[in-house]
Amino acid sequence: MKTKVIHFIAGARPNFMKIAPIIKEMEKSRRGAMGNGVKQTKGNGGGNKLQVKIVHTGQHYDANMSDIFFRELGIPEPDYNLEVGSGSHAEQTAKIMVAYEKVLQNDRPDLVIVVGDVNSTIACSLTAKKLGIKVAHVEAGLRSFDMEMPEEINRILTDRISDLLFVTEESGLKNLKNEGVQDDRVHFVGNVMIDTLLEHLKRIETGESQPSEEIREVVGSFKEYAVLTLHRPSNVDHEETFAPIWRAISEVGERIPIIFPAHPRTRAKMETFGLSEGAVRTIEPVGYMDMLWAVKGARMVLTDSGGLQEETTVLGVPCITIRENTERPSTIEIGTNYLAGTDPDRILLLANEILEGRAKKGKIPPFWDGKAAERIVDIILKEVQ
Ligand code: UD1
Repeated sequence: MKTKVIHFIAGARPNFMKIAPIIKEMEKSRRGAMGNGVKQTKGNGGGNKLQVKIVHTGQHYDANMSDIFFRELGIPEPDYNLEVGSGSHAEQTAKIMVAYEKVLQNDRPDLVIVVGDVNSTIACSLTAKKLGIKVAHVEAGLRSFDMEMPEEINRILTDRISDLLFVTEESGLKNLKNEGVQDDRVHFVGNVMIDTLLEHLKRIETGESQPSEEIREVVGSFKEYAVLTLHRPSNVDHEETFAPIWRAISEVGERIPIIFPAHPRTRAKMETFGLSEGAVRTIEPVGYMDMLWAVKGARMVLTDSGGLQEETTVLGVPCITIRENTERPSTIEIGTNYLAGTDPDRILLLANEILEGRAKKGKIPPFWDGKAAERIVDIILKEVQ
C-alpha cells in the first residue's frame, strides 16, 4: 500500500494541545502496522503507512506561546514553518495562504487536518481545498452565533468546506444539522484537548512531570488563589470595555489573590490604558504543564478563553467566562462554567457566590474521556485507504 501523507496544521497556542494526541495516536497506529508489537488502532487493517507532516504557520512565534508546547507535549519538530508572524486578519490569513500554497505545490498530502478556529485554520483549509485536497476539521460545529467574533467566521467557513467534521459536543451536531451538512461528513468523537489534559494530569499525579520552580513559587505564596486569562480583542482592545472589566477583576482580587499569565496583546493594552496590576499578580504566559497545575489547584478561573472553559469543566474547577456568549454550551449546561458577560456587577456576583461555596457541581460531557484521538484516527484510516 502506498504511503499516505497527512498534514497537520498548527499555528497558534490553542492548536498545539489539539494536534498532539492525534499525532501520537497515528504514530502508534503506524508502528503497529510495522509490526513492532505496539497495539494497532482498530480499523487499521495492519497495512497502513501514514506519514505525518507538521506545518507550523508561525501565527504564534514567541517561545512561551509556541516552542514550550512542542517540547512539553512531545510534538515532533515541524516539517514546515511558514513564519508568517502577526498582522491584520487579512494580512495574516493571506500570508499563510500564499506560503502554504507553495508547500502544497511540492508536497501534495492525501489529507490536511486543521483544528480549532484560528486564522491558520481557515487559511490552510481554504488553500488545500482549492487545490482539491481533502480537509478534516477537528472541533467542528461549535457556534457562538456572534459574527463579530473572528473565530466564528473561521469556524463557519472551515466547516463549510471540510470533508470530515469531528465534533466535540452535542451542540456541534445540532448546529451542523441546522446548517444542512450531510450526516456522513459528521463524526461525534469527543474532545482531543481533554485527551491531552487527562494524559498530562496523570503525569503530574505520578510525578513524571513537574511544574516549574517559577510557578510553584507564585502559587506557593498563596493559601488559595484564582487564575485569570484575558485576551479577546472584544474585551481588551477598547478602554471603555476593558477598564470596567479590569475594575471588577481588581475587586475580586481584594477577596482572593489572582494569578494572571498575561497574553502579549493584553499586557500591551494594559500599558496603553494605564490599568495598574493592583491586587492581580501578572506573570508572563506559562507553558502547558504550569497552566494545568495552576488551574487544577485554583479556587476558580476567570477567563475569556475557549479551551479553559472545557478544561475547568473536566477538572471540576468553577469558571467565570467573561464573554456575552460561548460556542461551548455544554460547559455551562453540564460543566462548571458560568457565562458572566462583561457586566462588572455580574462578574462580582458570580465570584462571590463561588467564594461563598455555592458553585454548581458539574459533570463531564459525553466522550470527553481521553479517547477522542483514537476515534479520529480510526475514521481517518478508513477515509484515506
Ligand atoms: C489568536 C486566535 C484566538 C486564540 C488566541 C490564543 C485568531 C483570529 N485568533 O488570537 O482565537 O484564542 O490566538 O492566544 O486566530 N503576539 C506576540 N507573540 C506571539 C503571538 C502574538 O507578541 O507569539 C502578539 C502580537 O502583538 C499580535 C497579537 O499578540 O499582534 C495577537 O496575535 P494574533 O495571533 O493575531 O491573535 P491572538 O490574539 O493571539
